[in-house]
Amino acid sequence: MAAEEEGLTGPGEARPAPGPDPRPESRPEHRPEPRSVPELLLGRPPMARPLPTFDAEAAPAEPGPLFVDWLATALDAGVPDPQVVTLSTVDADGVPDARVLVLRDVDAAGTGWVFSAAADSPKGRQLADHPAAALTVYWPQLGRQVRVRGTVERAADLVAAAEFATRSPAARVGALVGRQSEPLASLEEYDEAVAVARRRLEATPDAVAAGHAVYTLWAHEVEFWQGDAQRRHVRLRYTRTGPVRTPEWSRTLLWP
Ligand SMILES: Cc1cc2nc3c(=O)[nH]c(=O)nc-3n(C[C@H](O)[C@H](O)[C@H](O)COP(=O)(O)O)c2cc1C
Repeated sequence: MAAEEEGLTGPGEARPAPGPDPRPESRPEHRPEPRSVPELLLGRPPMARPLPTFDAEAAPAEPGPLFVDWLATALDAGVPDPQVVTLSTVDADGVPDARVLVLRDVDAAGTGWVFSAAADSPKGRQLADHPAAALTVYWPQLGRQVRVRGTVERAADLVAAAEFATRSPAARVGALVGRQSEPLASLEEYDEAVAVARRRLEATPDAVAAGHAVYTLWAHEVEFWQGDAQRRHVRLRYTRTGPVRTPEWSRTLLWP
């Protein structure tokens, strides 16, 4: 069947020049052998590059300043999207779930870690059912990981509305579309919903997405992990010693 009959060229489009078909599937002799994950990863150990050192003895008394220092270093080192962290939650059956999202803020002591999400998304429902979570970030260029665990509190709607107003128009349109993680029949259906949301935002610039929520993870543990090519990784864990929200921490070195 000719390409045009198959709909591969449109009216007025040039037909492909005659000659060998460039599509890889028509050239089985060039098709790469299927490769396994261990084969692909052979000889590629993680963190086999010069990495910064971490003087855990000189670490500050609270995790907040250390996180800001590491984040600034990640930005300077050109780590792409260093503010994107993995949020882990558990569902109603106790089964873990995880996804990445943008970390919005951390208070000065490293006690409150702020992110926003749709309350009616799976993660929002999981947090409503079980308000505890972990945040994890890995910055490969530096071989650094930060892990945070704690309880999660949803901020008042007024706080969420104020935060929503700071978002870019594109982000607000996306949130106004809503229905995150529901099955989608087609991309056209999504495009129509975006157009509706865009018109709504133009008509009502103060519109706030229903269910837009700001959450604070109140940390009880924050761990800083500095990788080392020789596996002399340095790990420092901060443990909150007072009640929730209090910026009182103890520090412990951990075996790698
Ligand atoms: C780089 C990146 C940044 C993201 N940022 C956010 C975010 O800030 N908020 C959010 O709800 N989802 C964000 N997502 C999408 C989430 O990973 C996830 O797909 C979505 O929130 C649905 O998760 P859920 O079904 O567990 O609720 C981001 C994804 C990527 C890859």
